[in-house]
Amino acid sequence: MSELLNTKLTAYADRVEKYMLAELENLQKQTAQKNFSVSGLFDAMRHSLTAGGKRIRPALIYAFCQVCGGDLQFADSSACAMEMTHTSSLIFDDLPAMDNDDFRRGKPSCHKAFGEATAILAGDALICAPFSVLARDSHLNPEQKLQLIRILSECEGISGMIGGQMMDMQFEQRTDVTAGELEIMCLGKTGALMQASCQMGCVCAGATPEQIAAAGNYGNYVGLAFQIMDDILDVTSTSEQLGKPVGSDAEENKTTFVTLLGIAQAKARATELTALAHQQLNQFEDTGFLHELTDMLLTRVQ
Ligand code: IPE
Ligand code: IPE
Ligand code: MG
Ligand code: MG
Ligand code: MG
Repeated sequence: MSELLNTKLTAYADRVEKYMLAELENLQKQTAQKNFSVSGLFDAMRHSLTAGGKRIRPALIYAFCQVCGGDLQFADSSACAMEMTHTSSLIFDDLPAMDNDDFRRGKPSCHKAFGEATAILAGDALICAPFSVLARDSHLNPEQKLQLIRILSECEGISGMIGGQMMDMQFEQRTDVTAGELEIMCLGKTGALMQASCQMGCVCAGATPEQIAAAGNYGNYVGLAFQIMDDILDVTSTSEQLGKPVGSDAEENKTTFVTLLGIAQAKARATELTALAHQQLNQFEDTGFLHELTDMLLTRVQ
């Protein structure tokens, strides 16, 4: 990894981590004022949020804010909101009713550590909190906040991640899923949050509609390539390296890019999507980091 990539990724990850921890404390104070005894829920939320994770979506938000000329402080609440949303999707994704995975981010999955009921409630709490985080931001104007809240709610909703996850579950019952159907499903379950991250970064910087559209296209290409690589790593990597179980897709009878296309062709499709993503960056200035990140997402081993 180049020094630029490493330095920026680390700085973005540290930044969002600090903001998330402060938001958790804030939430904890609110519940204490009401005399709620919910410390178990906070332990579960903290467990999943701070277990590690590559923080790719916050990095996209910060980077797009910067290439649109915005200061990082405008992007903090969006980065925090998105990483909470993404983490909630992982908690649910690991549940026995879904992918039934016992490890995540190198630690026991939320339901393994805290039980299913607490994991479901921690996931719920991490879905609600982001909207309050965005609404309370002290740097953004009301119009920006409304736009961000709309993008976030739509990307995680039925026309985005949740819809994609529903199709993923339905596809487990089928043996005739096509590559086209698989791409549509992955654009939902994984692409939507990536697309929204790129768009939100632009909104935080007050970017033009053209820039927001280009960032959205970039996010779609990168998101789909990211899921193809995720499917490949599920068969080629180790659980130590990934921090989550390998072989999970086969166990759950998933049709993946690997089962449909084979590893070489799946990688070729990810490479093609990565090239399309690079092209979208022409709309922006000073995109060195984003170009490097785009390539890293294709060659990643974690
Ligand atoms: C995992 O996402 C779920 C997918 C969309 C494939 P990441 O690979 O970004 O997971 P973390 O955040 O680094 O744990
Ligand atoms: C992830 O797809 C999609 C979401 C979590 C929304 P996967 O089920 O392939 O992700 P991993 O492999 O468990 O991280
Ligand atoms: Mg899944
Ligand atoms: Mg899974
Ligand atoms: Mg996977």
